Amino acid sequence: MNFMMNTVLGSRRLSQCFIALLLIGSAAQAQKPGTGKDWPAYQGGPDSIHYSRLTQINRENVKNLKVAWTFGTGDSTTKAKREFESNPLIVNGVLYGLSPKVKVFALNAATGKEIWSFDPAAGTKEIGSTRNRGVTYWSDASGREARVFVTFRQYLYAIDAKTGKLVDSFGDKGRADLRTGLRHEGEGLFVTMSTPGVIYKDMLLCGSMIAEQLPAYPGDIRAFDVHTGKIRWQFHTIPHPGEFGYDTWPKDAWKYSGAANDWAGLSLDVKRGIAFVPLGSASPDFYGADRIGDDLFANSLVALDANTGKRLWHYQFVHHDIWDRDLNAPPALVTIKRDGKVIDAVAQTTKTGHVFVFDRVSGKPLFPIEEKPYPKSPIPGEVTSPTQPLPLSPPPFARQKMTEDDVTTRTPEAHDAVLKRFKTLLSDGQYMPETLEGTVLFPGSDGGQEWGGPAFDPETGFLYTNANEQAFIVKIMKRPPPSESNTGKGLFTANCAACHKSNLVGDPPNVPALTGLDQRLTNREVVSIIRGGNGRMPAFPKLNPLEMNALAEYALKGNDDIVSASSPPSEQEYMLASSARFLDPDGYPAITPPWGSLTAINLNKGIFAWRIPFGEYPELAAQGMRNTGSENYGGGVLTAGGLLFIGATNYDKKFHAFDKRTGELLWETTLPFAGNATPSVYEVDGREYVVIAAGGGKSVKDISGGTYVAFALR
Ligand code: HEC
Repeated sequence: MNFMMNTVLGSRRLSQCFIALLLIGSAAQAQKPGTGKDWPAYQGGPDSIHYSRLTQINRENVKNLKVAWTFGTGDSTTKAKREFESNPLIVNGVLYGLSPKVKVFALNAATGKEIWSFDPAAGTKEIGSTRNRGVTYWSDASGREARVFVTFRQYLYAIDAKTGKLVDSFGDKGRADLRTGLRHEGEGLFVTMSTPGVIYKDMLLCGSMIAEQLPAYPGDIRAFDVHTGKIRWQFHTIPHPGEFGYDTWPKDAWKYSGAANDWAGLSLDVKRGIAFVPLGSASPDFYGADRIGDDLFANSLVALDANTGKRLWHYQFVHHDIWDRDLNAPPALVTIKRDGKVIDAVAQTTKTGHVFVFDRVSGKPLFPIEEKPYPKSPIPGEVTSPTQPLPLSPPPFARQKMTEDDVTTRTPEAHDAVLKRFKTLLSDGQYMPETLEGTVLFPGSDGGQEWGGPAFDPETGFLYTNANEQAFIVKIMKRPPPSESNTGKGLFTANCAACHKSNLVGDPPNVPALTGLDQRLTNREVVSIIRGGNGRMPAFPKLNPLEMNALAEYALKGNDDIVSASSPPSEQEYMLASSARFLDPDGYPAITPPWGSLTAINLNKGIFAWRIPFGEYPELAAQGMRNTGSENYGGGVLTAGGLLFIGATNYDKKFHAFDKRTGELLWETTLPFAGNATPSVYEVDGREYVVIAAGGGKSVKDISGGTYVAFALR
């Protein structure tokens, strides 16, 4: 109730002061990158503000928006769910985008007609990669030479932007190996990039996606030469002896620990030559007995000199993270007004539902942050940090604690079932320690803010963020004894069943079911996943080939062959048992709505401008349960035409245009699949378009697909 009332009151107050704010901000936008006719970089530009200064589509005429073209990538599939999170680039009338299986396409951005395509998997036996949010475009000063960079599995490919052919002179016949220079070099661990890198001069600055369980590579940040593919600089996110932060880990951790990686992309202050890198937690997630200490630079925003990779400043958001609180979106490079002064700032949103704002140069927080005390971990070996930082303002954009009052009332049965479960769990807000009985993580591992990241309006100083509101339950367990593991089934019980369950049903959507696996993967592919990991699936490189084969046979066909017992790797005594959404017996969130929200935050003042529930479940809406909000992924885009374009909502598959001043819904349409991606806004031949990747792979209920849908005025 309160939720909706705040919205109405907030918007009225807001419109009165809007005109004044408009005048203040307009000078700042002219020199912003990515605000011309093109959409030349991920999220519109290296400042990651998701902003276009185009005005042809505006508040008055947006209701006349029609489909201009659609393009099917051919990757539609009903079986293996593929996420389609591509934010396509548009440069000089050409759209560069990906398919869910990471084929690269160049399309005529006015018609959607294909110019060329490039399939990095062609001719290889590589399995289709995981999610990938787009490509990077680079051209030399004359514009004659232009390249498109894409990552597939462990390779960074350079493609000629005009022909779609590999650039032979780059790396090894057109591709560089992302494993080069990582400490565990040669061990064949999992590394890829799920978010494209950012161009600075003639370098491509890159993070990486790394396994979230050990063994895992460290998440070093690299600058690749755009011409040669050689590494120009490398920043150790897990410091080596003698480097700053080394003493925040056990002394040998730099040799065995992993991750502290940037899978979410980064931002760049081009004028100052500063890269802002958001880092994730160290591996393994959820249990950190082998990495006692604060674990710098895990969970930190690190400002690096973009020329050299030298650290300028950093801020750590979570000390010794055991909650999987990766920084999960590039920070927005914003400009705020304070006491009549304009301050260039950097705003980082978080999974916990907070926004932290820092001075871009000094790293000084621009709103007060408090180090709050938290209880100790009860798990043997684990040592949690005595305090964690949280900002005192702006207020959090997601609820911070699940109490009995938050237990769902959707039906009496759902309420009773959830309440019974809830009473067995530890639930006391942020940074409660993980337990053997189960701890409520709220907001859950998927935010709060997710990888779509916030949008920022330089006209007004408002930051817009869509968020999930969903609890997870995390449980730790004692590692099962290795002696049981000498058959396919025994190995599965010891290594896999904690997540995939002994009857293979998994825990969708967090952990996929392995039932019917033989219809989508081969023995070779399963072995490759076991050896190398894949996203949140840990790698098991220490199992021997016979054991991997026995596991694959068991997962694929239920064969339970005995293999020669080998001594299993010495590993930590405790491990993650499960991390899963807290749902009611019918599969809806265990909490009361809202289950998703959209919030406009006035960064000058540190207060909300407006806030609305975001998304619906069509079948619940049909029963009268409307405006519940729902899970949503992919960010929004602001325009100088006064609009906030955003898809994101999982279940209603809507693409929306809101009035950015008030949050009023001005237009919406239903996409063929949910638009779990950030849209792009651009102009070709005097016509403004907005395009979004519709793939729907984030919904547990629907099939996934892969279609670009572009809209324009008639
Ligand atoms: C910590 C939890 C966890 C453990 C332990 C685990 N998995 Fe997984 N597994 C996952 C997750 C999560 C995914 C989905 C990965 C993604 O797409 O990000 C997955 C994916 C897979 C897939 C691909 C499924 C598909 O449909 O594409 C296979 C096969 C698989 N796991 C097999 C195994 C085997 C065999 C083991 C034991 C050796 C194992 N897993 C252990 C969490 C786990």
